[in-house]
Amino acid sequence: MPDFKLEFAKFAAPARGVLVVFCDEDLKLGPETRRILGGAAELVTRAAATERFKGKLGSALELVAPGGLRAGRLVVLGCGKPRDLQAKDFTRLGGLAQGKVPATAGEVVIVAELPTGAMKPDEATDVALGARLRAYSFDRYKTRKKDEEARPNVTKVTVGVGNVPATRRAWERRAAVADGVVMARDLVNEPANVLFPEEFARRATALRKLGVAVEVLDVKAMQKLGMGALLGVGQGSAHESRLVVMRWNGGARGEKPVAFIGKGVCFDTGGISIKPAASMEDMKGDMAGAACVVGLMHALAARKAKANVVGAIGLVENMPGGKAQRPGDIVKSMSGQTIEIINTDAEGRLVLADVLHYVADRFAPKFMVDLATLTGAIIISLGQEFAGLFSNDDKLADRLTRAGQDTGERVWRMPLGPEYDKMIDSKFADMKNTGGRHGGSITAAQFLQRFVGKTPWAHLDIAGTAMGSPQTDINRSWSSGWGVRLLDHLVEEHYERK
Ligand code: BES
Ligand code: MN
Ligand code: ZN
Repeated sequence: MPDFKLEFAKFAAPARGVLVVFCDEDLKLGPETRRILGGAAELVTRAAATERFKGKLGSALELVAPGGLRAGRLVVLGCGKPRDLQAKDFTRLGGLAQGKVPATAGEVVIVAELPTGAMKPDEATDVALGARLRAYSFDRYKTRKKDEEARPNVTKVTVGVGNVPATRRAWERRAAVADGVVMARDLVNEPANVLFPEEFARRATALRKLGVAVEVLDVKAMQKLGMGALLGVGQGSAHESRLVVMRWNGGARGEKPVAFIGKGVCFDTGGISIKPAASMEDMKGDMAGAACVVGLMHALAARKAKANVVGAIGLVENMPGGKAQRPGDIVKSMSGQTIEIINTDAEGRLVLADVLHYVADRFAPKFMVDLATLTGAIIISLGQEFAGLFSNDDKLADRLTRAGQDTGERVWRMPLGPEYDKMIDSKFADMKNTGGRHGGSITAAQFLQRFVGKTPWAHLDIAGTAMGSPQTDINRSWSSGWGVRLLDHLVEEHYERK
């Protein structure tokens, strides 16, 4: 990760590097922008005509060495119709701006002004958030010089704003979210020889310095609780399983918490039902749900969210071996329900079964949202644009859907129902851990539902959205850190004391 420096300053032109300004569909520029551009404003009009640049949202016009300016490059970003812009558009514009920083000149000044006037503090900080996320790269294992020289080692972003103190204050909250996303991305990108359950738990304990209470339960503690489903998955690994419980109490004393639960399979070989070799390396990301929960807890604690929040992650490694569980084995979950293992590669639901029950039982939360890279089938259904949403609660599902629209981390609701539930009944136990190929993501969700009791609950299948991510304006990394912004927004909108 190149060093990233962000500053907010009064509107001004840079002495070098890249200058980024915004225009609308009439190619109109804001008053401060026109002042900064001076004579160069006329160049913009001519260049736009030459390039047929129309100021559409997300489009860009670039001028190299523009006369009358000291900046080496001028970038005009189209913002479409300024009045239609939403938070996620500002974030995207920030990403686009950062994307215009060439490898050789890691400095950019973004003039956070619309044709209609200075961006509000929240809007300017959303631009900064987008720049921060776009600048992220995971390169801690690249040791060769030539990789180093290919990029700037410092990216300096200055966001020019109207009200500097107010924007700086707004950024304190936004930076918390940015850091949470970065934390989640780092965890997902990390290889499994480094990030095994114990090490993951250790990293989660770093949240203590933000005031988060972190408990780490080891194998013995989980045996005592009767977590046979989770422990069965981890028993074939040389690395011991862990359960991490994080609590942030920023809300009223005694108020029920909201709870987030993550699948943390640090590596998923499939176990005895071993996966094919092709792309198995991607299974280092099978803990993206847990990474999201840790990143979210960071964001909420760092911005001192006024809510009581529980985060719980089940950390295991799914390996074959002499001690591994077998197809046909029957395990007993903490809830008392028994499970016949049909396929040891359907392990995520086994881990979540015990963590969901544990959280419902211990905390009686207002709701539980779990995140899991649970099924390949959800990638077939929804591709990489939407996460699958399954829920027993319409209000929670609607709020998540809305939060997805607001943040751009979108979810698409999928069905649940007794006909699907029947598909996981077992000949030998209370249920089996797979329901066949049909509706694979749905039967997986039905399985989870058997462990949530009456608690309002939503399950997000993030196999398509959290890893092997497509390149976007705000993410160039293998891992998107998906879900941190979505759930931070959900909490902020609905579950914080005003
Ligand atoms: N971690 C995988 C799901 C997955 C696949 C995530 C591809 C990301 C990319 C999960 O544990 C798994 O193996 N699921 C099986 C379930 C099947 C055995 C019922 C699957 O999707 O094939
Ligand atoms: Mn699996
Ligand atoms: Zn898995």
